[in-house]
Amino acid sequence: MNAMEIEYSGGVAAAGGTTETDIDLSSRGRDNHQQAAMYLVWEDLSVVLPNFGNGHSRRLLDGLTGFAEPGRIMAIMGPSGSGKSTLLDSLAGRLSGNVVMTGNVLLNGKRKRLDYGVAAYVTQEDLLLGTLSVRETITYSALLRLPTTLSKQEMDEIVEATIMEMGLRDCADGLVGNWHIRSISGGEKKRLSIALEILTRPRLLFLDEPTSGLDSASAFFVIQTLRNIALDGRTVISSIHQPSSEVFALFDDLFLLSGGLTAYFGPATMAVEFFDKAGFPCPSRRNPSDHFLRCINSGFDQVTNNLMGSRRIHDSDPLMNIPIAKINATLVDKYRTSEFATRAKARIREISSIEGLIVESRRGSQAKWWKQLSVLTCRSFKNMSRDVGYYWVRIGIYVTLSICVGSIFFDVGTNFTAILARGACGGFVAGFMTFMSIGGFPSFLEEMKVFYKERLNGYYGVGVYVMSNLLSSFPFLALMSIATATIVYYMVKFRPEFPSYLYFCLDLLSCIATVESAMMIVASLVPNFLMGVTIGAGYLAIMMMTSGFFRSLPDLPKPLWRYPISYINYGAWGLQGAYKNDMIGLEFDSFISDGTKLKGEFILKSMLGVPLSHSKWWDLAAIVCLLVSFRLIFFAVLKLKERASPYVRTFYTKRTLKHLNKRPSFRKAASFPSKRQQPLHPLSAQEGLNSPLHY
Ligand SMILES: Nc1ncnc2c1ncn2[C@@H]1O[C@H](COP(=O)(O)OP(=O)(O)OP(=O)(O)O)[C@@H](O)[C@H]1O
Ligand SMILES: [Mg+2]
Repeated sequence: MNAMEIEYSGGVAAAGGTTETDIDLSSRGRDNHQQAAMYLVWEDLSVVLPNFGNGHSRRLLDGLTGFAEPGRIMAIMGPSGSGKSTLLDSLAGRLSGNVVMTGNVLLNGKRKRLDYGVAAYVTQEDLLLGTLSVRETITYSALLRLPTTLSKQEMDEIVEATIMEMGLRDCADGLVGNWHIRSISGGEKKRLSIALEILTRPRLLFLDEPTSGLDSASAFFVIQTLRNIALDGRTVISSIHQPSSEVFALFDDLFLLSGGLTAYFGPATMAVEFFDKAGFPCPSRRNPSDHFLRCINSGFDQVTNNLMGSRRIHDSDPLMNIPIAKINATLVDKYRTSEFATRAKARIREISSIEGLIVESRRGSQAKWWKQLSVLTCRSFKNMSRDVGYYWVRIGIYVTLSICVGSIFFDVGTNFTAILARGACGGFVAGFMTFMSIGGFPSFLEEMKVFYKERLNGYYGVGVYVMSNLLSSFPFLALMSIATATIVYYMVKFRPEFPSYLYFCLDLLSCIATVESAMMIVASLVPNFLMGVTIGAGYLAIMMMTSGFFRSLPDLPKPLWRYPISYINYGAWGLQGAYKNDMIGLEFDSFISDGTKLKGEFILKSMLGVPLSHSKWWDLAAIVCLLVSFRLIFFAVLKLKERASPYVRTFYTKRTLKHLNKRPSFRKAASFPSKRQQPLHPLSAQEGLNSPLHY
């Protein structure tokens, strides 16, 4: 057992059940709980959306200061568009690449990347594999992350307890759903996403609107569970939309955002008092959270004015007579000078002086890599076999096309015209049939999205993912190639020898596997469906053109097309191998009726431009080398995106700030001059920074 620990206690009891699972895998004493506590502090945090044209750059978050402590659950509230997700993304190090972040985010007093498993994050969007059931999804997640030393029974207990905790028992065997599978409801998906993250009892947990789409009772139980997790000494930060008064009462702290500014930060129970003192008391029968949002949602001021003007609304509420923008500005101003702001700063100083806090270089998973590889391969295989669009449709099309090709070139023979026919048939199979691998692109993209989410939460490493993808797809590629090759080979009657048939299968399999790998590289570079398909199709068209079918290899223009393109073209090697496999040793009728027979070797050299200096097995080996290289490139692209992104972000942040600080409009845009006069320090310029990644 390593230094990392997982505790799991009282889950079912929390959800109202009677059984209690309590697995304490820690080999260390209680003292370490304090050490493993996560104090998150953010100081003067700003996020800017730069505009390099004439327009104004937009401050999405403006000088936010706050902290989150272990044992407490914090609610981030604010109207839609106020910056809740942006704040969570900034704290969790997952901001998108087009914005610039400045300020400090400190975990236990240190700057640290919070992605890749240090913190767990339930995003607003649910990214799940649609072909798995709820129970399967949770089980795979548990197998991928819980320690390998846990027995199957313990693992099952944890999974069942989590299903109970999130109220998913009734839909546990229902499939998550995708375009062709009827799905569980949106609220159930949301609870499933939460279940996946609370499974390992993370020390720091971010949630973006975990109760959206839930009825008030479900929302209450979900937040109650999160509160229980917090009470175990974990730090929980959650944005929340319209909580009921019962749900609101479960939160310890409240961070109220209004247009990217802090309207209130402090204990949730004191917020009513703050609003009261600020001159906007909460009416006795109103849900406090509704009142807070009403006071700060200025987006509908114009509409309210119009309705009041046309006398369509008559409201005795005094708030209706004051423009919300004004209330908003007053609250932001009052908070800045309030005792809450002063106390927050004092507490931040206290937190920074706590000694003995450690920041473990913790991964999100405690499972061994080989366990992850086998589980991920198994899950991916199940997904591929259940998703009709992933391989089955393609296999169907390949079989249909093979029958077409087989009947068009049926029993091709060895007369003079068969030379051209054999060449065309080989060219079609090696060149065009591989083209259809582009059909898997949408499914690759779906899988990649789940990969990015799981990777950021530290489920497994890039190498494990790349390997598992190759292994799980292999049976389908083999089935596709063998079915195609068998139908074509025996209908066209290429050659009777079994080794030639075997070579034909291997040649096709390696070409298709290489195209698949190339498509994975495209999917990792261009995570957009239309752009990806277009780029993939362009790449395959170039490969087809230079494969030696449309223009023989020796005739290709030497710069670029012959060297290097035809050498890094799987199609060129595939076609040469297929031609050699078919023609060496065969004799064809001459052009004239009783002329001498034409040898296959002669045709290869003089008519098809295929060099005979190396055997067909070298051609096959070249394709396998390309396949391995493409997989390595795929791995390198994913890895580089992870490693290089902090440096790219640092560079971008520095450049953007330099550019923006020259603009008077950016400097003057401040509504609170005293704050804005302070220079912005690019957070990412500092070592070990909380650098966000963008995919
Ligand atoms: N990467 C980005 N590029 C451009 N604009 C952005 C970006 N991120 C956030 N914004 C803008 O910042 C504002 C705040 O967005 P954010 O998603 O944080 O709001 P929110 O409070 O989470 O809203 P909701 O409750 O609707 O989820 C929005 O107006 C949004 O358009
Ligand atoms: Mg949001």
